[in-house]
Amino acid sequence: MGTTHRVVSTAPARETGAEPIIELRDVTVAFEDQIVLEDVSFTVYPGMFVAIIGPNGAGKTTLIRTILGLVKPVKGEVRVFGKPAWTLKEERKRLGYVPQILSVDLHFPITAGEVVLMGRYARVGLIRRPSSEDVRIAREAMARVGVEGLWDKPFGKLSGGQRQRVLIARALANTPELLVLDEPTTGVDVAATQTVYSLLREFHAEGMTILVVSHDVGVVANFVDTVACVNRRLVAHGRPHEVLGSEELAQMYGCDVAYFHHGRVPHIVVEPVEREEVASD
Ligand SMILES: Nc1ncnc2c1ncn2[C@@H]1O[C@H](COP(=O)(O)OP(=O)(O)O)[C@@H](O)[C@H]1O
Ligand SMILES: [Mg+2]
Repeated sequence: MGTTHRVVSTAPARETGAEPIIELRDVTVAFEDQIVLEDVSFTVYPGMFVAIIGPNGAGKTTLIRTILGLVKPVKGEVRVFGKPAWTLKEERKRLGYVPQILSVDLHFPITAGEVVLMGRYARVGLIRRPSSEDVRIAREAMARVGVEGLWDKPFGKLSGGQRQRVLIARALANTPELLVLDEPTTGVDVAATQTVYSLLREFHAEGMTILVVSHDVGVVANFVDTVACVNRRLVAHGRPHEVLGSEELAQMYGCDVAYFHHGRVPHIVVEPVEREEVASD
C-alpha cells in the first residue's frame, strides 16, 4: 500500500464538460487479506468507449463488479450516474451488463428469446409476465445484433458467437446509456469477434457509453477511444496508441511488447522474457 505509481498520460480531456458517468477515486478492493485492486482512480465520461485490459487475475472483473455495486471497496469512492455504486436502484435501468461467465446454464431448456426477455426484468419486475411491448423490444434488440432468427432456438444449442450476440441483445433490451461487457468475445472466433466489436462501435456512434474488458488487445485498439490497463493498480490509461506502446504495458504482462502499425491495424508482438528481468512489486 502507499506505493506511488506512474500513470501514462491522463484520461482524455473532458471535451463535453459533462458529469462523469463512472468515477472511481482511490479505490481499494480486498477479498479477505488479498488486495485485488489498489488505489484505482478512473473516470469515464458519457460517450466514451473504453477498453480495460490486463493479464488474468489482474482484477478486471472485480473492477467491473465494483462499478456495478456488486463488490464494496474497503477504501475509496465509486460513483455511477453520480451516485455511490452500491446505492443504485432506478439507475440500474440505465445500465446494460454482459457478464464474463455465462449466467445461463446451457442445459437449461430456455430459448434465445427468453434469455433476451430476461433483460427486461429490471423494468418488468420478476412477478409480472412480459408484455407484448417487452417482447417487441426483445425482438428488436435481437434484430439489432443480427440474431432475430434465433428467437425460438434453444440457447444451449447456439454457437459461441451467436450466444454472445444474444447476451448483448439481452443487455440492449434495457436500452442502456451505459453498456458494460466483461470479455464478450472469449471463446468466439475471429470473425464473430469483429462482428461484436463492430456492433459496439455502432452503439457508440449512437451515443452509448461503453466499457469493455478484453483480451483482444490488437482488436480493441481499432475500436475504442481509451484503454485502461489494470494489474491490481491502474497501470496506464489513455488513448490506445499512447498506452499500447508503453513500457508499462510490457511491465504489466511481464514481457517485451513490440508495437507497430501495419496500415491502420496495430499489431502487438509479445515476447516472453526471463522472469527475473521483470521488476516485481
Ligand atoms: N469473490 C471473490 N472472492 C475471493 N477472491 C476473489 C473473488 N473474486 C476475485 N477474486 C480474486 O481476485 C483476483 C482478481 O480476479 P478477477 O477480478 O476475476 O481478475 P480478472 O478478471 O482480471 O482475471 C484473483 O486473484 C481472484 O482469485
Ligand atoms: Mg475476468
